[in-house]
Amino acid sequence: MSILRSATDPRWLGVALSDVDRTLGDHAHCEKKAAASALKLVADHPDRAELVRALAKLAQEELQHFLAVLNELQRRGAALPSDEGDPYAQRLLALVRPGSSRLLDRLLVAALIEARSHERLALLAASPALEERLRLMYERLAASEAGHERLFVQLASAVAAGPEVARRLGELADAEARIVAELPLEPRIH
Ligand SMILES: [Fe+2]
Ligand SMILES: [Fe+2]
Repeated sequence: MSILRSATDPRWLGVALSDVDRTLGDHAHCEKKAAASALKLVADHPDRAELVRALAKLAQEELQHFLAVLNELQRRGAALPSDEGDPYAQRLLALVRPGSSRLLDRLLVAALIEARSHERLALLAASPALEERLRLMYERLAASEAGHERLFVQLASAVAAGPEVARRLGELADAEARIVAELPLEPRIH
């Protein structure tokens, strides 16, 4: 069961499919940033052995996803666009508290971004309008992002007590639903 508090607007899928190259280009950058932010957590918390090992493995998977999306862009004759920035992730990261709550919040925000990615990649995977090989790629990547969502919640449970994790996750999930509802629908993953 997902940690998300809202479902994606049903119009999003049509918008994403209206410019598949742009959706793929944005998706490539999402995978690259997922790898980079996992490595940033490793760099900031070298003393947490479980976190270091899990996030190094996650960064490797995200880079494999990045390469898979790059291959599809290349096959379609589309170049990797420049990174447009990600207002969705930036607004969520702005909610991360400083000090002793910082790590918990970073892990929970990462869990929510993975959960939203999983939801939207699964919508693409289920769309008959998309060519078969792209649907199969999205099916594979969606399953992987679902595992990442669970991993980040598990890592969060190692840095704070259960009730505190649940309370803060609820707050951030409410904020995530508001942010998603406020952002325009574009041919992007979020
Ligand atoms: Fe990924
Ligand atoms: Fe992921």
